[in-house]
Amino acid sequence: MAQQDDNLLKNVVSHAKEYGFIFPSSEIYDGLGAVYDYGQNGVELKNNLKEYWWRFMTQLHDNIVGIDSAIFMHPTIWKASGHVDAFNDPMVDNKDSKKRYRADVLIEDAVEKMKDKIEKEAEKAAKRFGESFNREMFLSTNPRVMEYAKKIDETNERLKNAMANSDMVAMKQLMTDLEVADPISGTRNWTDVRQFNLMFSTEMGSVAEDANKIYLRPETAQGIFVNFLNVQKTGRMKIPFGIAQIGKAFRNEIVARQFIFRMREFEQMEMQFFVKPGEEMTWYEFWKEKRMKWHHAMGLGTANYRFHDHVNLAHYANAACDIQFNFPMGFKELEGIHSRTDFDLKSHEKYSGKKLQYFDTESNQSYIPYVVETSIGLDRLFLATLSNSYKEEKLEDGSERVVLNLPPALAPHKVAVLPLVKKDGLPEKAEAILHDLKFEFSSYYEDKDTIGKRYRRMDAIGTPYCVTVDHQTLQDDTVTLRDRDTMKQDRVRIADLRSNLSGKCSLVSLLKKI
Ligand code: GAP
Repeated sequence: MAQQDDNLLKNVVSHAKEYGFIFPSSEIYDGLGAVYDYGQNGVELKNNLKEYWWRFMTQLHDNIVGIDSAIFMHPTIWKASGHVDAFNDPMVDNKDSKKRYRADVLIEDAVEKMKDKIEKEAEKAAKRFGESFNREMFLSTNPRVMEYAKKIDETNERLKNAMANSDMVAMKQLMTDLEVADPISGTRNWTDVRQFNLMFSTEMGSVAEDANKIYLRPETAQGIFVNFLNVQKTGRMKIPFGIAQIGKAFRNEIVARQFIFRMREFEQMEMQFFVKPGEEMTWYEFWKEKRMKWHHAMGLGTANYRFHDHVNLAHYANAACDIQFNFPMGFKELEGIHSRTDFDLKSHEKYSGKKLQYFDTESNQSYIPYVVETSIGLDRLFLATLSNSYKEEKLEDGSERVVLNLPPALAPHKVAVLPLVKKDGLPEKAEAILHDLKFEFSSYYEDKDTIGKRYRRMDAIGTPYCVTVDHQTLQDDTVTLRDRDTMKQDRVRIADLRSNLSGKCSLVSLLKKI
């Protein structure tokens, strides 16, 4: 079981701000809930993550192409996709604290508390019985534990039914029966539970009477579905084939917390893979394996990933799972892999009145393809990468450093060129080296402060290599090349720098591992 590390999350949040990775949006106006801006280093890391995904999905798969569809789409698309009617969360307010919650999350928290109580009973008994303690036997026979377990099962069942039937009265009753109290005010003074649609809407049209309500897309996938035939025909694509897209999505999350884990404006990287009906489970397994390999190749530690199968499937899915990552808050969803059947294309056929079928030249038949989807949140991937790379280290000389040991290929800057002192022609020599490197590598130049302070700053933004230009450089055209992780310095020829760096810092090194 992963441990929650609140301190780590706090430190990552403040480090991200201090070093130009992520700023709260509109900060000078006290911010905007669950909206963030990426700073000068953040945008580089984010772009590298995008490129790693894009190149793997499109460049390395002959049968996958990309698109970039608009955020605004015809409003009927969201009726057809089910988002207008069913993209809801149950919302409840506490009248004393004036705080808003998701009722299902409050109920799930109450279930977690019951589970904790079972665990405490088991721990107490283990202490009491010592060596002879049989945990399985205890859990299946202890009356108090059995009572909690029964209540947990009943609660889960009632929650599942209330959610499936959109029965908000049953939801409120469940909260009352569980005696759910507001974590802030401690009271049970709740409003009724109401369904809250997560889509943001706005109006299109310059004259009020003509205005049409349109939505900011809550997922990028629908832009792919509605372009399915355009791409298939113009690209002469043969099934099975995929369409990939990276873009912004918007959800008016009721409770948005945990930094960039749950945002109201975020970015998704999605791929819809169109397959012959009946073959979807083979492709579902195929993509599960492929996507996990892609994650593992990043080098954040294979033990930090696991699959989590969905038990309650969405109405359009016949199989679904998450790839969870060990975030500072514990294992949580990073990516979803869903077998979406022909639900979306079929529904768009119905609502648009246009055929969305594939003509199979081999069998001389037309059919609506089935779809296997892979969907990852770019911001969550960013948080996974940043929090996993953040290290506070005590060094041999007793000093401390914060280092981001980011995979070199993803680091905002691959190399920093640093003249040892700001005189004697060293800055000019350093600038000439920088000029040579910057065409191939994102490079950084700095000549202020002591060399030690500059190394620390580069460690803190995850720059894997520092090139230091000293007086010897002027004599023999060599520099020191410092490794961020080992802090070891090697003397290398300037002429060899490019070949030294390219093997280690290129995305190709990650892509070849998959
Ligand atoms: N097209 C399928 C779809 O949108 P989802 O599970 O709702 O499925 C896919 O979202 C991924 O998008 C999630 O695994 C997560 O990484 C990311 N995501 C969803 N909501 C998010 C939010 N509010 N903030 C940040 N990322 C989010």
